[in-house]
Amino acid sequence: MRTLTFRRPDDWHVHFRDGAAMRAVVPYTTRAFGRAIVMPNLTPPVTTTALAAAYRERIRAAVPEGMTFTPLMTAYLTDGSDPTDIVSGFGDGVLTAVKLYPAHATTNSQFGVTSMAAVAKVLAAMEKAGMPLLVHGEVTRTEVDVFDREARFVEEVLAPLLADFPALKIVLEHVTTAEGVAIVRENASRMAGTMTPQHLLFDRNEIFRGGIRPHMYCLPILKRSTHKQALRAAATSGESCFFLGTDTAPHLRHLKENACGCAGVFSAPTAIEAYLKVFAEENALDRFEAFASLNGPAFYGLPANDERVTWVEQPRLVAEAVEVEGQGEIVSLFAGETVGWSPATA
Ligand code: DOR
Ligand code: ZN
Repeated sequence: MRTLTFRRPDDWHVHFRDGAAMRAVVPYTTRAFGRAIVMPNLTPPVTTTALAAAYRERIRAAVPEGMTFTPLMTAYLTDGSDPTDIVSGFGDGVLTAVKLYPAHATTNSQFGVTSMAAVAKVLAAMEKAGMPLLVHGEVTRTEVDVFDREARFVEEVLAPLLADFPALKIVLEHVTTAEGVAIVRENASRMAGTMTPQHLLFDRNEIFRGGIRPHMYCLPILKRSTHKQALRAAATSGESCFFLGTDTAPHLRHLKENACGCAGVFSAPTAIEAYLKVFAEENALDRFEAFASLNGPAFYGLPANDERVTWVEQPRLVAEAVEVEGQGEIVSLFAGETVGWSPATA
């Protein structure tokens, strides 16, 4: 039975939602991670420093007693974002980054950016301030095949963006393609890519294995296995431009198991287990700490967490669902299944 000790990891991409759902899901992130980058796609979205500061307080109130956890906040970029507010929020330590959703790309992205020209002033101010831009990298034109949307974004939007803002720090969130891996690597001096458990573990067949599986539907959608292989090689390479970001995205069961189901995989309860499975399969457990605990803080200019945690290669049965008070339940990645790793202290 293998054991692995590493610095407490951070999650560089989470959706905490708000209200009762937030109170239900936050403890799953805080028990495994020291910090998390919190996505701003609430309704209405977290578009300003003041809204982010208020949301941060609500998250802090949902952290279980005795847990040490730091939420790192993002602002939702819109065509009307105020560069002064965004950059001063960064200077004040309220905002860590800005999130770019192309309009209509995903959940609550209807307020997102309609063209890069519309946000050029904000991006220029962020570039000057050293504030990272976190990108949902998919084109949204309906004629583009859903499996091609990331690759097209890399070519049509990200490459010109890198050229237009040569010092802007950019994270390509939830990389799902070989094209995404390549552009991150080529620009590693100021770019990074986060990777989710599901894109490292599964290819697109998983959405249709034995019938349609709505809990495996997320955006960007799972891709063919050649892309999964490129992601696994990158994640386990130790290269500092790739790090952990679960994109844990809870939706109530009835909104997933629905004729028009929501996108998102709720991975927080089993994320470390899932990543460890990948690193064990790739014989790369010695590089796990770089991916989970070191590369992210280095990119964001933060110290790595001091605390060490130990995980054991010991099977654990995962709960069927997580209850949201008064609303229903949320099904997590590996719900009702057995995972191969457990926290040593559990
Ligand atoms: O699958 C997804 N779910 N992708 C996103 O980009 C958003 C997220 C959500 O908020 O549910
Ligand atoms: Zn996300």
